[in-house]
Amino acid sequence: MPERRYLVTAALPYANGPLHVGHAIGAYIPADVYTRYLRLKGEDVLYICGTDEHGTPITVTADAEGVSPKDVVDKYHRIQEDAFKKLNISFDNFSGTARPAHYKLSQEFFTRVLEKGFVYEKTVERPYCPSCKKFLPDRYVKGICPACESPDQRGDQCEACGRQLEPHELKNAYCSICKGKPEMRQTKHWFFKLSSLSGRLNEWVIKNTQWPSNARNFALGWIKEGLEDRAITRDINWGIPVPLKGAEGKVLYVWFDAPIGYISSTMEWAVNKGKPDAWKKYWTGEETKIVHFIGKDNIPFHTIIWPAVLMAEGSYSLPWQIASNEFLNLEGRKMSTSRGWVVWLHDILNEFDSDALRYYLISIAPETSDADFNLNEFKDKVNNELIATLGNFINRTLTFIQNKKGGVVPNGNPEWGDPKKLEKDDSLSPDDKAIVHTLYGSMLSVGSEIEKLKLKHALEALLHSAQQGNIYFQKKEPWKGDNDTTIFLCANLCRSLAIMMHPFLPDSAEKVWKMLNLEGSVKDQHWESAGMLAIKPGHKIGAVEPLYRQIEDVQIDNFKSKYLRIAQEKKTEVEKMAEIDYEEFKKMDLRTGIIREAKPHPNADKLLVLQVDLGPLGMRQLVGGIRNYPAESLAGKQVIVIANLKPAKIRGVESQGMLLAADESGSPVLLTTDKKIEAGAKIL
Ligand code: 2FM
Ligand code: ZN
Repeated sequence: MPERRYLVTAALPYANGPLHVGHAIGAYIPADVYTRYLRLKGEDVLYICGTDEHGTPITVTADAEGVSPKDVVDKYHRIQEDAFKKLNISFDNFSGTARPAHYKLSQEFFTRVLEKGFVYEKTVERPYCPSCKKFLPDRYVKGICPACESPDQRGDQCEACGRQLEPHELKNAYCSICKGKPEMRQTKHWFFKLSSLSGRLNEWVIKNTQWPSNARNFALGWIKEGLEDRAITRDINWGIPVPLKGAEGKVLYVWFDAPIGYISSTMEWAVNKGKPDAWKKYWTGEETKIVHFIGKDNIPFHTIIWPAVLMAEGSYSLPWQIASNEFLNLEGRKMSTSRGWVVWLHDILNEFDSDALRYYLISIAPETSDADFNLNEFKDKVNNELIATLGNFINRTLTFIQNKKGGVVPNGNPEWGDPKKLEKDDSLSPDDKAIVHTLYGSMLSVGSEIEKLKLKHALEALLHSAQQGNIYFQKKEPWKGDNDTTIFLCANLCRSLAIMMHPFLPDSAEKVWKMLNLEGSVKDQHWESAGMLAIKPGHKIGAVEPLYRQIEDVQIDNFKSKYLRIAQEKKTEVEKMAEIDYEEFKKMDLRTGIIREAKPHPNADKLLVLQVDLGPLGMRQLVGGIRNYPAESLAGKQVIVIANLKPAKIRGVESQGMLLAADESGSPVLLTTDKKIEAGAKIL
């Protein structure tokens, strides 16, 4: 067999905050399942990661926390590493991009692509904030996305449509520190000739038919749209210095150095192993399959820009597979870390078992479309699927052996061992043969689903085989006597399940292995042996204990009130609102209006001053907290106004009424009418 190996990576998380459940299922758990499976298959595989420690995500956090960027990355590297450990993510190496070896490698990369003619210098105009006295790269500038018109998007990428942006492309840009209007100033940067690689990239992506469709379609679409050269340097004071005379004060763009972190982390692994050259075979040559697990928002960089840089540099292998998940929402809403609408890994792992969380997240993995994390569903799936099916089968089998068989696996048929022969054994009943078939067949089907990166299906196939076990056990009624064959087969199915559980549920797989009193660790078994009847008659099992803990309603309620901040606020709001009668409601004069003009409020960032036409009631000046709408987009918009609200001064400007809007995660959405209607019409 020709040599073959895998290098699995998961996107390097920015070390600028803790990790949440969306991160976990976006890349780290899927890559972990895949890697653990490959290890069981006996493949040569490394799982590589580390924190992404440069760029404006770090400096913006440092500004906000009033500490240095180095303090930020040290703190969050620790917090993230700890969460990954609790979640049993089995990295072979977890590095960080602020380490000296990574600096050296990134600077070498830059120099090589420059020497090979893929980088050129150009003076360009970039946003500069005169009051903060600095250039505003990436996340320092916000504004309207030129592609989808979403307001308040950051200068590096639009979160709404996923488009890669340059800060100067934003419309109505403002400085994210002081909210002031930036001016354009000249500055020198180094550009990567992405355009020149368009043909090669196109050919390569077309060849990569193994990619999931979201990655492939995005890449092909972007190439077709036209790839433009991109600046790979920035004007900020935190990052890897550009290794050139005349480039003092400039650093490499974070997205230039971050993926190089996959290589430098592999090099670090090799040094720690005491074999400094051992990384080479994973990054050069044809035999290694490089698999990048990433979240959806990282698709552009991993399908186009990173491969292009690798092509230009020329000494390393290109990725083979890009596994990218869609987004995870929380209880029907987009997660928002700033508003506390998020389930942090460290919180949930403090209250619940890691395998319970892994089970739930994999069972809802956003593989082909966005998914929703729901705490009640978490409880239901853990109790009704994981415990009631998988836990139950293992528990009832082992308890039976312990209580009724003196802890010894009974003697079924001494010749047993190979399931394919057994299926033809006439002394077995059709039900016995079916369970032997389940044991062998699920090893194949779970494995093939994992290889296809269909982890949800793979987990379903695993649960299905436990379910078949339950049906078999129930039907054979071993408590009525004459049960040696049944219990022998069920004990072997437990062993087989333990091996197949290992990629998904490593803690409980090991627990089953111990309860079965089998030698070594489950992680050292061979995947194919899950299809064998390897427990011999007469084998003595170990002490039996419940595999999982049932989740109670009260635990979920407590978790929500302790950790979900918005949920709590909302609850008290609802409780506070008293009933009113119709007479009180009728006192409100609600009218349709048409916005004629909108301007920023002179003294408040979040407010606009509007001139609203109320038809027969005349023109009204209203102050509204709707700065999420670009002022120039509002003229002509039909709105609903409380026309008889007492005028009041809001931050020094009179407001003669009130505009109605609905709250979408803290962002107002204007109410309007179902069809065009004249201004001033009464709302019934
Ligand atoms: O989106 C992110 O969190 C980035 N830090 C991912 C980087 S992946 C890689 F290229 F390093
Ligand atoms: Zn500013």
